[in-house]
Parts: sequence; C-alpha cells; structure tokens
Amino acid sequence: MKSTGKLVVLGSINADHILNLEHFPTPGETVTGQGYQVAFGGKGANQAVAAGRSGAEIAFIACVGDDDTGSRVCKQLASDNIDTAPIRTINDEATGVALIFVNGAGENVIGIHAGANAALTPELVEAEQQKIAEASALLMQLESPLESVLAAAKIAHQHQTKVILNPAPACELSDELLALLDMITPNETEAEKLTGVRVETDEDAAKAAHVLHGKGIDTVIITLGSRGVWLSEKGSGKRVPGFKVKAVDTIAAGDTFNGALVTALLEDKPMEDAVRFAHAAAAIAVTRKGAQPSVPWRKEIDEFLQQQR
Ligand code: RIB
Repeated sequence: MKSTGKLVVLGSINADHILNLEHFPTPGETVTGQGYQVAFGGKGANQAVAAGRSGAEIAFIACVGDDDTGSRVCKQLASDNIDTAPIRTINDEATGVALIFVNGAGENVIGIHAGANAALTPELVEAEQQKIAEASALLMQLESPLESVLAAAKIAHQHQTKVILNPAPACELSDELLALLDMITPNETEAEKLTGVRVETDEDAAKAAHVLHGKGIDTVIITLGSRGVWLSEKGSGKRVPGFKVKAVDTIAAGDTFNGALVTALLEDKPMEDAVRFAHAAAAIAVTRKGAQPSVPWRKEIDEFLQQQR
C-alpha cells in the first residue's frame, strides 16, 4: 500500500426505517411490529463510519438529497471523523431510504429507495479524482451506480490506490471491474452470484475464492456469518473464525467488518490480525440495534480484543 495511509470510501447514504417483528410477513399478511426506529444507514455510510470510528483517516464520496435528513446525516458523519467535503447535495432529490424488517432471530430483509444515491455519476467521481489518487485504498459497495464504481476503480488502479469491493447487494459484475480489484469481500450469497459456486462448506468457499482469484483478484475474503470468514490470499486459503456473542440485530455487521478491516490494513496490521480486529468490531455491532448506532469506536474494539486474551 502507499504510505499516505488515507482511505476513500465511495457509496450510499440512507435513512433506515427499522421495524422489529416476531416473523417476516408472507405475501398478503400484515404483522404488527414493535420498536420502530429511524437511524442513519446505507452501506457506504456505514462502512465510512466504521472506518472513521475505528481510527482511519477517511474521506467519503457520496450524495444526499436537499432535505433535512441530508443535512443531519452530513453533520453526524463529520462527527464520526469523516472528511465529508466530497459529499454532494442533489437538488430536488430525497436522501436514500431503506425499509428494514428485523425478525425474532435478528435476521433482516431490506428494500431500498436509492434517491440521491442514484445521482452519484461517473462525472462526480471524476471530480474527486485527486482524493482517490492520493489515497492508499478505495473501499466501495454496490448501492451506487455500477458505472461510477467502475470509474472510481479505474482512477484508483491508475494511481496504485488499492481497490477493495464489498459486492453488496449481490449483483453480477463485469470481468473488467473484477480485474481492477485488489480485494473482494462477498458473503455466501454474493460469492455464489459472482462465481456460480454455492457456498455452504469451507471447500465450497475455497472453490468460489479460486474462481475470483482467476478473475485477477489477489485477496478474497468470503464472510460466512457466525462461522467467521474464508480468507484466501493468492490461492492459499483458511477459515478465520469470528467471536461468539448474542446477536440482537445483524444490520451493518458486514459493513462494520469491512470498514474496520481496511482501517487495520492501512495501519499495516498483518492480514489475520486485521481480520480479527474486524471480527471484533462486527461482534460488538451485532449486540446493538440499528446500523450506524451499532458501530463501535476504536477504544471499544481494543477493549473487546483484550477481554478475549
Ligand atoms: O448493510 C446494511 C445497510 O443496507 C442498511 O443500513 C441499509 O441502509 C442498507 O443499505
């Protein structure tokens, strides 16, 4: 990695409307829930917050609407140690919205209204070229237009900025984009979408990782829920287990893992230590409700890790 240690995150910002239900409604069914809350979320913003709170020097490229939510979320992100200068306000657009049901087992289903996130065009990405070029790493997800993700990856690749993609939500991707990535972090569903390999066992994860290495990606980390992750570097793979905690809500667990992982790598932590650090951050997040309200600060992650010794 370059020695600047700087991170750029490019991605979405949403207001999450969260409702807890005993079970998810089936088509035609109405279920009365409890604990309705509105909290800041969006995969990009969650990962930016995880990086900012865990100690990275980070700038965030994103779009909000010209509404009250947009201005409030920008203030919140700035207080999370994030350089918000590259966040654009889009006229006559609403800030993105996510409608989220959480069931009794802590699982969630999510519907998205992209709103201003859809206005993050390749032209806006080009305007932030210098930030991407100066950074050591660029972290992205797939709640932003694909052509903009590709444009950012091209700029980063050209300037030796490492490109890390968390390919969520699941989507087929071009070989052109995959070849520009240094690291990819799919979950089991996303790995299957990208490789055609159904991931249920460690052997399946190794197979899926092999396909992704074949596309030109050096590091593949497949997240396996409570089983931890499959970490594969240039074809040599192993499972790194996570920490056992009582999950109340898994919203943003993957986002927290990604933001903390990249932060640790930018501090030159060895890969397995970085994965352990990210596991700790995600473990804390699942014990709390909501997306950004659940993301831990550095001190909490360090204390959690110390308690595991
Ligand atoms: O990954 C969790 C996030 O997905 C939520 O915060 C929601 O906004 C959706 O983007």
